[in-house]
Amino acid sequence: ETKIVSVDSEVDNVRNYQQAVDILKSGEVVAFPTETVYGLGALATKREAVQKIYDAKGRPSDNPLIIHIGKKEDANLYAVDIPEAAQKLMDRFWPGPLTMVFHKRPGVIAENATPGFETVGIRMPDHPVALQLLNMLDGPLAAPSANRSGKPSPTEAEHVYADLNGRIPMIVDGGQTGVGVESTVLDMTTEPPAILRPGGLTKEMIEKVIGPVQSEGKTEKDKAPRAPGMKYMHYAPNAPLFMIEASETAIQTAVQNLHKEGKRIAVIGPEEFSIEEADWYFSVGSLHDYDAIAANLYRAIRQCDETEADVILAAETEASGVGEAIMNRLTKAANGKRYSQR
Ligand code: TXA
Ligand code: MG
Repeated sequence: ETKIVSVDSEVDNVRNYQQAVDILKSGEVVAFPTETVYGLGALATKREAVQKIYDAKGRPSDNPLIIHIGKKEDANLYAVDIPEAAQKLMDRFWPGPLTMVFHKRPGVIAENATPGFETVGIRMPDHPVALQLLNMLDGPLAAPSANRSGKPSPTEAEHVYADLNGRIPMIVDGGQTGVGVESTVLDMTTEPPAILRPGGLTKEMIEKVIGPVQSEGKTEKDKAPRAPGMKYMHYAPNAPLFMIEASETAIQTAVQNLHKEGKRIAVIGPEEFSIEEADWYFSVGSLHDYDAIAANLYRAIRQCDETEADVILAAETEASGVGEAIMNRLTKAANGKRYSQR
C-alpha cells in the first residue's frame, strides 16, 4: 500500500519530488531521509496533517515534534528571542544534526506539533533529499523519526516500510542515512544552554563555539528529563538487551555462561572480535570508529529482532564524542541493564 519512490542524485527526479510535495500539501504524511535517521514529515502549519503523524506512529500526542526548515533564516518565522549563541551555532552547524529549542512564535505552527509547549525545537537537516523537499514545499515540516513508537529509529527506507507499510502513503528512499543516531537537542532557552538529548553533534563541538553547556541528568540529577521524548520507553528490542564491556574475552565468557542456561545469544559488537560461540553476531564497525558504530547501531538492533535470540549482548563504547549518544541509546535499549558474571 505504501509507495516507495527512489531518488537518485544522478537522475532528474523533479517528478518524484513533486509527487511527495503534492502529498504533503494535501495534508498527508511522507517519510524521507535526513542525515541522522528517516523522518515522518507533515506540513507543520496544518493541524490535521500533524495529527496523522501521531496516528501513523502510535506516538503519545503530548510529545513535541521537531520543526525542519530548509533555510537558516526561517528559524525566525517560528521562534522568537533567538540568542546570539544560537546564531553562532546555526552559522557553524546548520545544516546538521543539531536541534535547538527556542521560545515559540505564537500562532504559526499548528498547536498539536508542540502540544502545550511555549517552546519549539527547530533544525535544518543536512541531506540533499530533505533539503530539496523543504525547498520545493516552501514550508516547515514537523517530523519525528519515521518508526513505530517503541522501535529503533529507521536508518534505511526498508526499516520505515517494515514499521509503517499501509499506514502512510509514501516513502522517499534516499539510501542509508549517514549519522545513524538522532540529532542533538539543545535547549537555548536556559543559561547556560542544556543538552536535552545527546546526538549526532557532540557536546565538545558545541562547547568549542559557545562555551560550557549543561548535560541533562548530570547537573540536575533526580529531575524528570525535559525532552519529553526521553521519558517514554524507546528502542526496546524483543529479547532483553544487556550492555557489556567491549572486551573479546568478556563477551566470550558471557556467551559460554548464557549457553549453559540454554539461552541463544545475539551479539552486537565491533568487527575485530571473533565470538565464534555467539549464535548471531552483528558487526557495527571498528572498535574505535564511533561514527561507524553510530551509523550501524539501529540496523543491528533491528537485525537482532529478526533472530530467535533469548538474550542480546551489546558492546559498550566510551561515553565521549558521539559515543555519548551511542551509550545513551544502548542504555535505553537495555533499560539500564549491564551484563555481569553470575
Ligand atoms: O535527528 C532527528 O532529530 C530526527 C530527524 C527525523 O530529524 N527526529 C527525531 O524526532 O528524532 P523525534 O520526535 O523522534 O525526537 C524529538 C525529540 C524528542 O525527545 C522530543 O521530546 C524532543 O526532541 N523535543 C522536540 N521539541 C521539543 C521542545 N520544544 N522542547 C523540548 N524537547 C523537545
Ligand atoms: Mg524518535
